[in-house]
Amino acid sequence: MTALTLTDSEFRALAAQITDLAAGYLAGLDGARAYPQVSGTEVAHTFAEALPETGLGAAALGALGAVLERSRAPTGRFYGYVLGSGEPVAALADLLASVLNQNVTAWRSAPAAVTIERQVVQGLAAAIGCAGFSGSLCGGGSLANLMGLAMAREARLPANEHGARPGVVYASSEVHMSIPKAMGLLGLGRTNLRMLPADADFRLPLEALREAVQSDRAAGLEPLAVVASAGTVNTGSIDPLPEIGALCREQGLWLHVDGAYGALAALAVPERFAGLSSADSLSLDAHKWLYQPLDCGMLLFRDTTAARAAFSFTGDYAKSLSVDPLESFAYFDESLELSRRFRALKLWLSLRYHGLQAFREAIRADLSHAQQLARHVAESGELELLAPIALSAVCFRHRHGGEAVQGDRLNAAILGRLVERGRVYLSNATLHERFALRACFVNHRTTAEDVAQIVPEVVEAAREVAPLL
Ligand SMILES: Cc1ncc(COP(=O)(O)O)c(C=O)c1O
Repeated sequence: MTALTLTDSEFRALAAQITDLAAGYLAGLDGARAYPQVSGTEVAHTFAEALPETGLGAAALGALGAVLERSRAPTGRFYGYVLGSGEPVAALADLLASVLNQNVTAWRSAPAAVTIERQVVQGLAAAIGCAGFSGSLCGGGSLANLMGLAMAREARLPANEHGARPGVVYASSEVHMSIPKAMGLLGLGRTNLRMLPADADFRLPLEALREAVQSDRAAGLEPLAVVASAGTVNTGSIDPLPEIGALCREQGLWLHVDGAYGALAALAVPERFAGLSSADSLSLDAHKWLYQPLDCGMLLFRDTTAARAAFSFTGDYAKSLSVDPLESFAYFDESLELSRRFRALKLWLSLRYHGLQAFREAIRADLSHAQQLARHVAESGELELLAPIALSAVCFRHRHGGEAVQGDRLNAAILGRLVERGRVYLSNATLHERFALRACFVNHRTTAEDVAQIVPEVVEAAREVAPLL
């Protein structure tokens, strides 16, 4: 026995306690607050105890209740940001993945894990209309976007050997913050990202795109890539993918599609995602609209050679000695990551357990919940919609509060009060420089009854805060 050894019976007892805790938590989700009643000081105080020199044994688990109580619960009434709801079969698979502790660097380190990941990634690509694409799982959409742009840079303005030269990338003003971040990190420079003002439907305007590319070329600059959004973070808008794809082909530009929020909805409504397969690279986030527990991002690409050009740089200690095409496969040749966890196990098990059809239905339910909320907002008299509903994000605000700035104050105060009340959780967006309340449905637990609580909650919160402003 080493200092860290657990006996079989100890492991079983701990696992039973943890699964019991998890099951109780899930059983109580319906009645849980959408946001816990916590303060920074109180949470800091709760977890202030120094790390013990001598282990507490099973008593260590006693603190887990405090963790659960101070966590934001994945209830059906959580609609903030773009955050999936944590499908429990996948959560159980995550436990097993940690026990297996495979390092999914290469086939030889993790034969089953690599094979399953390749199979599940290719299967999902085909299911959203991108048959023939391959790729890998990663921490999230931000990393997938960074890797997609790294591929674009290496394909058009190679930089890995001699350093980066500025190349211009085009996107709409609604593009996710991870794209400017990637421009900085890749040495392309944020000023070389043209964030073209989005049109009235919050989409990338095609003519402005064409003009911007032409005028940059005329100025001697190097247009490199377009980032199209298949579901913008604020409103879920889908850029005109077929037309952007055609323009990229005509102009020799790399097309990266940021589908981290929306593109998995192509499982349910493929007609809204025409042109998705014209992408050279595509980010997805199964921890968003495939309900997987964090983390489960994904980068797909059509050409493995381009991925290898961007990412392959192998030390002798990692080179494969096999010539078998399956057994010599290494993710580190096609991805930024070397050590990687077995993320595919949860995705694979969850898809096998429920079947694709169940996920299509859950996505359709989210889409219809967004329409339901839009109807309630329109009928309320006190609230107004601020954007068309392209997918499952609904942006709206309280009409009262006079001119824009005052209205912003009122709506920001409403959001604060909503969170305090704890029945529903919304986040916010800025649309046309105005503060919007935002509900995003990527939650398999949400019911029509849950959705029906949103407008009354907002109206009540407005009644409470308006006199205080
Ligand atoms: C459109 C879009 N792209 C990228 C991201 C970043 O994804 P992640 O948070 O997984 O890094 C998000 C997150 O909400 C998003 O909505």
